[in-house]
Amino acid sequence: MDKFLTLKEIDQITDEVRSRISKKPRIGMILGSGLGPLADNVEDPVTIPYGELPNWPVSTVIGHEGRLVIGELEGQDVLVMQGRTHYYEGHSMDRVAMPVRVMQRLGIEFFFVTNAAGAVNPDFEPGGLMLITDHLNFVGMAGANPLRGPNLDEFGPRFPDMSQAYDLELIDIARKVAAENDFRLNEGVYVGLAGPSFETPADLRFLRAVGVDAVGMSTVHEVTVARHGGMRVLGVSGISNKANLDGSTITTHEEVLEAGQVIVPKMVSLMRGVLRKI
Ligand code: HPA
Repeated sequence: MDKFLTLKEIDQITDEVRSRISKKPRIGMILGSGLGPLADNVEDPVTIPYGELPNWPVSTVIGHEGRLVIGELEGQDVLVMQGRTHYYEGHSMDRVAMPVRVMQRLGIEFFFVTNAAGAVNPDFEPGGLMLITDHLNFVGMAGANPLRGPNLDEFGPRFPDMSQAYDLELIDIARKVAAENDFRLNEGVYVGLAGPSFETPADLRFLRAVGVDAVGMSTVHEVTVARHGGMRVLGVSGISNKANLDGSTITTHEEVLEAGQVIVPKMVSLMRGVLRKI
């Protein structure tokens, strides 16, 4: 049997975080590649580098700052993860999603997750946003589900429902905020792949054929764990590049980070707007 994350390990980290903060955050956020600057908006922040937390999977990827920022945004107490760890860095799926477990033990009810993604849908342009309405758990289907292993009954059932992973009310609020702020908010299905290599044109044509709109290397396992624990989820992708369906262009991590600069102001107004309405 593989070695899986235990409640004791989760609570060691939770206790360490709790000992450093006076707030009781209600909203947890993860900021994806190039989206870290969103955390600069947090007021009265307490910051905790991941390296100071026992057993926290530290990210090695450029564009991922690697710290928790706890403070206030639009009058709400928030805990923001500035950077995340990915499966391709070598951790098991349950460990990659572990921060979401810590959020749950801290009493967080809302999980706002962001990522950088490639547009598989030809109508999407780099620099835009996509509201995630559903996801394709490609890696989980193949066996690497973050809930594999003994069920942690304190969080949820052995066989959790995933029929509405992304909260309909939050989706509706996000649509209203985008309309009020006059920016286009695409909607669609996100697929999480293991990475770290980008997709071949054949991979991408396959993904398009099965209904994918945007592709990335994160989020799905985090949302799976969040839903297991009953959190309400809002997911937004920042479209950093057009996926290379015909093999005529190449995708680079630098391109992903550059697009982040265009995406951040939109992501900030979307998140601020949603926070004002919940
Ligand atoms: N593919 C996979 N992950 C990504 C991409 C992509 O094109 N862009 C940003 N993350």
